[in-house]
Amino acid sequence: MTIRQISRVIDSVATSDGAGVKLRRSLGSSATARVDPFLMLDEFYSDNPDDYLAGFPAHPHRGFETVTYILDGHMLHEDNFGNRGELQAGGVQWMTAGRGIVHSEMPQQSEGRMRGFQLWLNLPAQDKMQPATYRDIPAEQIPRRAFSGGHIRLIAGELSVDGQSVTGPAASPVTQPIYADVMLESDARIDQPLPESHAALIYVYEGSLSDGQTPVAVNQAAVLGAGDAVALQAGGQGARFLLLAAVPLNEPVVQYGPFVMNSRAEIEQAMRDYQAGHFGHAAAG
Ligand code: CO
Repeated sequence: MTIRQISRVIDSVATSDGAGVKLRRSLGSSATARVDPFLMLDEFYSDNPDDYLAGFPAHPHRGFETVTYILDGHMLHEDNFGNRGELQAGGVQWMTAGRGIVHSEMPQQSEGRMRGFQLWLNLPAQDKMQPATYRDIPAEQIPRRAFSGGHIRLIAGELSVDGQSVTGPAASPVTQPIYADVMLESDARIDQPLPESHAALIYVYEGSLSDGQTPVAVNQAAVLGAGDAVALQAGGQGARFLLLAAVPLNEPVVQYGPFVMNSRAEIEQAMRDYQAGHFGHAAAG
């Protein structure tokens, strides 16, 4: 067994997106702060409705997947194909934008805490122009497994937790993502096999942890090096973190805002298609 050591720590940057929703961006805060095939990771967390009420009004995507995981709060999703879903605390929306979608993501509460994550996961060239699909996954469909000192909720992929195989409800055929939400009690540790084929990172959203050499503080992401297992220890306050892993695509990435393609010509095509309204109907484009 080879333990994956932390190879790089990525600080998150306070920013805003949509109609002014305040968030912290770790992956995607610069063009070099990416871990193929993960493009971006935002955490939004606020007790102040002024920070989130304006939400994310209608906007397009092409060429990748967005994964929204709500910890606290309640979000309404609507898209131009007539899909509508209400995302509740503990639930996930897995949207494969493919060749194009226009959607809105709007908080459905006027007070209290709104907290969650949005991850952007790239699609391989062969799948970038597939029809858009999306899936709402309620909290009760996400398996939770306890181990000594903590627990894992598995949103996507397959893991062996304490010798027991667990499969999350979401999947993507080429990148084979593993998306786990992990809680560690004070000073507890996790020793978790993770396939060698996958690039991996963590994002700490409460507490702190360490791989024995490199500490990772709250609101930091850490890239994990090569190996087939993860061994991490929480600090005295415990830790809550996302563990993300997927098979790298090793393809060129050209991003322009909400479009992520393989070439500049494909980005220009995306802008023309969007302006011509070709993201508007399933039959178009
Ligand atoms: Co969006």
